[in-house]
Amino acid sequence: MAQDAKSPKKLQRNRSTFTHRVGYALTHPGRVAPYLRRATRDTWLRLKHPDHVSYYRAVMACDARRNPEAAVGSQTHERWLALGQLQFDYLVEHGLRPEHRMLDIGCGNLRGGWRFIDYLDTGNYYGIDISPDILVAAKKTLVERGLQDKLPHLTITGDLTLDFLPGDHFDVVHAHSFFSHSPLEVIEECLANVGRVLTEKGFFDFTFDRTEGTEHQVLCEDFYYRAATLLALARKHGLHGSFMDDWEKRPHGQSKIRVSRSPVPDADQYDELTRR
Ligand SMILES: C[S@@+](CC[C@H](N)C(=O)[O-])C[C@H]1O[C@@H](n2cnc3c(N)ncnc32)[C@H](O)[C@@H]1O
Repeated sequence: MAQDAKSPKKLQRNRSTFTHRVGYALTHPGRVAPYLRRATRDTWLRLKHPDHVSYYRAVMACDARRNPEAAVGSQTHERWLALGQLQFDYLVEHGLRPEHRMLDIGCGNLRGGWRFIDYLDTGNYYGIDISPDILVAAKKTLVERGLQDKLPHLTITGDLTLDFLPGDHFDVVHAHSFFSHSPLEVIEECLANVGRVLTEKGFFDFTFDRTEGTEHQVLCEDFYYRAATLLALARKHGLHGSFMDDWEKRPHGQSKIRVSRSPVPDADQYDELTRR
């Protein structure tokens, strides 16, 4: 997604309307054929897989076999590296410490994950994903980076009940570019269960595609939410939330929210929040 995706005009845009799609096609004729291919695949996979997780797993199977880096949203290796660095730098600046236990939801092929594994103490990284194909690619990344000795956990999941994980365990939970591909019921399942696995002072950071207009989706792949909707959902499940203003300046089209069982302090007080 382009960096100017957060301009006031773009934040009002509803990409699912007919007028938007026609206007977009006229201004980007080269993207019409790829969009039609995606739309055809979307229709076929939705018919085959009525539930979203199975549908998205099939999307990932198709994309990851072709190119795992593109499957997680990076069209070039340089972008893949830069996006991982962006995630890593921000989290370290905002409270991640080597001794923390981290859960990475929708870890993909470890675009950010390999840097977290390298940084964290041995055994402290836990990555989960719905896609076996992307987890195979994740193991390849791990080998390429020579990080076997850090003993990360990489696990397939079918839902976000997180019931196989211990309670009161993770200092940091992270989900980058995962809510942007999830309908509200999947996000709610995640927010309903993440509080149990977080430590009292732990926090959960997630990015999302933000709209300030009507919430909408493009095919079943991309979902646009208002920040207030996600903050209200977190509140419903007993979590305090904060919109991460300073993430807005970073070169990434999505926005970021932090939620925690404890009140989330201002940006300059992260050390306090994460001290155990
Ligand atoms: C755009 S990729 C981002 C991957 C990684 N977080 C990164 O930044 O490189 C989204 C990932 O979320 C995974 N995913 C989608 N829905 C999921 C769900 N309900 N539970 C767990 N993982 C999911 C996908 O398989 C994919 O690997």
